[in-house]
Amino acid sequence: MSITQTVQSTAQLPPLVPRIRTLTNATRFLQNPTIPLAQYIQEYGETFAFYVGGVKYGILSIDPEVNQHVLQKNNKNYHKSHIQKDFLGRFTGPGLLVTDGDYWLKQRRLIQPGFHRAKLAALTEIMQKVVDDSCDQIELQEGQEVEMSHLLLEFAFKIIAKSLFSRDYSDKLMDEVDDNVTEIQRYVIRLIRQPYLHWWFRMSGKEKNYNDISEETRNILLKIIHERKKSSETYDDLLDMLLSSKYEDTGEGMSDKQLLDETLILFAAGHETTANSLSWTSYLLAKHPKVVEKMRAELSEKIGDRKPSFTDLRELTYLTQVIKESMRLYPPAWITDRVALEDDEVKGYKIPKGTIVNCYIYGAHHSEKYWKNPEAFIPERFEKENMKGKPNFAYFPFGGGPRLCIGNNFAMMEMQLVLAEMVRRFDFELVPDQQIELQPLITLRPKNGVLMKLYRR
Ligand code: HEM
Repeated sequence: MSITQTVQSTAQLPPLVPRIRTLTNATRFLQNPTIPLAQYIQEYGETFAFYVGGVKYGILSIDPEVNQHVLQKNNKNYHKSHIQKDFLGRFTGPGLLVTDGDYWLKQRRLIQPGFHRAKLAALTEIMQKVVDDSCDQIELQEGQEVEMSHLLLEFAFKIIAKSLFSRDYSDKLMDEVDDNVTEIQRYVIRLIRQPYLHWWFRMSGKEKNYNDISEETRNILLKIIHERKKSSETYDDLLDMLLSSKYEDTGEGMSDKQLLDETLILFAAGHETTANSLSWTSYLLAKHPKVVEKMRAELSEKIGDRKPSFTDLRELTYLTQVIKESMRLYPPAWITDRVALEDDEVKGYKIPKGTIVNCYIYGAHHSEKYWKNPEAFIPERFEKENMKGKPNFAYFPFGGGPRLCIGNNFAMMEMQLVLAEMVRRFDFELVPDQQIELQPLITLRPKNGVLMKLYRR
């Protein structure tokens, strides 16, 4: 008999929010779950159970120890939930973000080296060129109202597309991919939010329409991959990296289908998150001109009038703190979830097999237990001194454990380049009388966008 069988566990299920309460809160939950969730945390503690949509038993936690257990220490017992797999995976195919187990590990090992610092350094120039061109475009709209989320989504789309395809990039093709990806994302959101309409989507031909759009996008990308394979040139972009990666055991590269799946995942995971973070940051900067002054002072001191090089970016500590603090207040990936493969226990709580565990990133980032004055925007919190003693997983905008965001350094570098150029070139002014609200969908967006006027300095 094993030890686990002889010792009686004293672990208990986490406190349960009554089903009637989750049902009566359903509409509020759909509009903005952060509000009812903050109330539950106050009443039931850092870890509690509830019926997701009034039906499916699930646990939610902001406790760093619990989230570290699920995402890192006992990660082998937890797989991705059906939300990420069914909804996103259906259109992207089985790429890194939505696979599990041995296949995921094999792909992660293959792709990870492509995101190492030396590889990223090679992308600095590509990114900086997009940033410069886009800022030139913004200058043409000086003083006009611009919607920042829209603008920065275009920015981020171009950056990931050019980082993937550098010289194969054509405006016409990429506009088509951009439109398709946007439409598919809108549809995925409807699938998640309106499960009761799935039958209608099927009957009305919507589902087929979106499958066709998805197929069209795959064909465009596949054509680029085929042409690149025939080329003997070196490109130093992400597609080159994917094409040249070889499995350790066979020495073979990925099949065309795998290349396509992974390319689509990098597209899908790699631009909306970053764009949201940049939108929230621009909003915060417009409200905190002193922070902007401090960023400008750092830029003048450390790099003067030059464009920042890859090595410069490391020196821009205040800029990095601004980005980190913005992602604390507005984590673009505001929640993630896993399903328990077997019964488990953590911190005296039972996690029965099959339970969905929600690691509530937004909640941890806004907890008074870990952050003094949590609603205030204070980039200096991220000074080394001030972060001493903070538990791991009190701050985890990129997730954690073996499935930590593979693009985290890419994203940080991109945000640094965009923000450095924007604060150097522009003054930000928020258009008055707008309500900036949270819209937590797959990622955390500003609900009605952020209207702003930008002026050349
Ligand atoms: C501010 C920007 C970003 C944020 C906040 C973010 C956040 C995250 C988070 C929280 C996860 C883990 C999800 C989980 O554990 O369930 C993740 C995974 C992932 N991210 Fe990001 N991400 C960002 C940018 C990017 C970029 C730029 C790329 C690609 C260039 C990217 C590619 C991926 C991929 C492929 C995964 C799956 C990794 C795996 O499961 O092995 N992300 N991201």
